[in-house]
Amino acid sequence: MAKSMFEAVAVIGAGTMGNGIAQTFATYGAKVLLVDLSEDALKKGVLAIEGSLARVVKKGVITDADAKATLARITTNSKLEAITNVPLVVEAVSERPDVKAKVFSQLDRQCPPATILATNTSSISITQIAASTKRADRVIGMHFMNPVPVMKLVEVIRGQETSDETTAKIIAASESIEKVPVAANDFPGFVSNRVLMPMINEAIFCLMEGVATKEGIDTVMKLGMAHPMGPLALADLIGLDVCLDILEVLHQGLGDDKYRPCPLLRRYVAAGNLGKKSGKGFYDYSKA
Ligand code: NAI
Repeated sequence: MAKSMFEAVAVIGAGTMGNGIAQTFATYGAKVLLVDLSEDALKKGVLAIEGSLARVVKKGVITDADAKATLARITTNSKLEAITNVPLVVEAVSERPDVKAKVFSQLDRQCPPATILATNTSSISITQIAASTKRADRVIGMHFMNPVPVMKLVEVIRGQETSDETTAKIIAASESIEKVPVAANDFPGFVSNRVLMPMINEAIFCLMEGVATKEGIDTVMKLGMAHPMGPLALADLIGLDVCLDILEVLHQGLGDDKYRPCPLLRRYVAAGNLGKKSGKGFYDYSKA
């Protein structure tokens, strides 16, 4: 089994992404401190990790003893102050610039100078996040995909001031946990959402204009383009509010009307139909 280049890592945010990132580093031998302001989120995060590890054991990929050892490497804390002497922090708190700025400025004050501060943001500028610290050369984007233990990609995003050394370390660290890193520069949406979101948005325009039914649009992309999932079902999975937020970032940041969010997407979000998490989006999940 490969071994994480970093022997100790702090992960902030125990939600969807944070618990997956913690599980992944711990699987490859790192001691992980998982921090979330909410005790409830920490409990749910650990439960999610237990469930996920149990599935991997069932598939025969790891033994029950491996799963227990992985869990034992993860400790939790509800205070950011608990993060003191780790070489890498990966932040996965809510996608809000003000929240991230506060977290990074506190981390900058309390972490040793050599600590690399990485963010899992899917759309906020790395340069902007780094500006809330005095170590912009050691701030970088480490954008994992959902579900983290399964998805191979890590988009490694350099901010304006990120050093070559920091970038090289994060690329090596990603490889050490058997991910495939792809380097990208700090432009709105990076590569992943810059390409994905306009496709999803266009699928919603097709639905609004009656080009085809939702099932029809998704089937064209699945069977015609070999996508594992249609764009409308994928939007439901990501969350329609999240899709709208990212499209707003692309539209504002790139200043091109080709990124304008479809009015039908706005209407779904205004109605509270946010996709799978709310029980209803383009599809109905209430009976699932
Ligand atoms: P989430 O809402 O599931 O989890 C966020 C967690 O952060 C919550 O448990 C919350 O209690 C905690 N939190 C909020 N403020 C905090 C603070 N100041 N200190 C400590 N903990 C705090 O969010 P999710 O989906 O895990 O997203 C996290 C980050 O990952 C976001 O930046 C998002 O854009 C990014 N991302 C999300 C993906 C997804 O599919 N959900 C995919 C790739 C990136």
